[in-house]
Amino acid sequence: MRVLSGIQPSGVLHLGNYFGMMQPAITLAEKHQAYYFIADYHALTSRPDPKDLRGFVKNVALDFLACGLSPEKTIFFRQSDVPEHLELTWLLSTVAPMPMLENCHSYKDKTAKGLPASHALFSYPVLMAADILIYQADAVPVGKDQKQHLEVARDIAAKFNENFGEIFKLPEPMITEAVAVIPGTDGQKMSKSYHNTIPIFGAEKEIRKRVMSIVTDSQLPEAAKDPEPNTVYQLYKMVATPQEVQEMGTRFREGGMGYGDAKKLLFEKLWTTFAPMRERREELAKDDAKIEKILQDGAQQAREVARGILKKARQAVGLE
Ligand code: ADP
Ligand code: TRP
Repeated sequence: MRVLSGIQPSGVLHLGNYFGMMQPAITLAEKHQAYYFIADYHALTSRPDPKDLRGFVKNVALDFLACGLSPEKTIFFRQSDVPEHLELTWLLSTVAPMPMLENCHSYKDKTAKGLPASHALFSYPVLMAADILIYQADAVPVGKDQKQHLEVARDIAAKFNENFGEIFKLPEPMITEAVAVIPGTDGQKMSKSYHNTIPIFGAEKEIRKRVMSIVTDSQLPEAAKDPEPNTVYQLYKMVATPQEVQEMGTRFREGGMGYGDAKKLLFEKLWTTFAPMRERREELAKDDAKIEKILQDGAQQAREVARGILKKARQAVGLE
């Protein structure tokens, strides 16, 4: 089975991204042939500062490699290194129904949040369809918010096949709903748009500060408390051993565990859990050329596949 997914380079990796997306993606790539790319063409639709964009792309590459993605087993590349995606986008645009695109909520949501209403932002689902169809991907692991885009990709593939012959495979969405929603420092879903994130690879002082800022109620340390609604405990569960979780839970329930102490335990656990990845990341970050070579090797392999499918599509529509 061929799995494929795109990751937008748009910020600093936080605990929500790691447990919600990166860790499952890396595990999946151990069992299947995976195509993972850094979706920089997509990122342009939110008009990032060019300097920031370059930095974010490098960060995503470092994050994935440091967290254990194997560049030998995975085809890992930067989207814009395979410009064939764009040519296929145009061919697909000719059969993509306007009403279906007009119905997509991401355009409405993003313009409502203040992003400029550009053509690229509107036609983003067609580029995403091209990303997927150009590799004949079987399955596309994505979050719930991308489900509609997967339906668009399937619809466009079916329309193209109807008009020009069986070229594209219809991809199956692999909705990663089972993953817990990781809460942020204010208890809402952790998200960079809510400014409530805990970064994975920040400086020690910064991460400690973020952990200590987790909002809790005002019960005193000696009070017996239910740990479940508590964000500190929820996050601790993601990183501590079952025994450590049980110990913290018991101390909360019996009284005598203050939130300050729990936060310190959480910080220590986060720091040690990600220590090996942090070291690997620091090493990798010293060698820009190595990262670039990994991305270029990935792009070369991806491009070969992409060119083959694009050629078929060009022939089917009469360009060749
Ligand atoms: P953000 O919400 O910070 O902007 P993104 O939307 O860029 O994050 O998310 C990138 C990936 O990380 C998505 O696959 C998303 O499902 C996952 N993700 C983000 N935040 C969380 C969270 N709090 N819990 C679980 N998964 C998350
Ligand atoms: N649109 C996806 C997101 O915002 C990223 C993406 C781009 C993608 N192309 C893709 C995901 C193809 C899966 C398949 O998260």
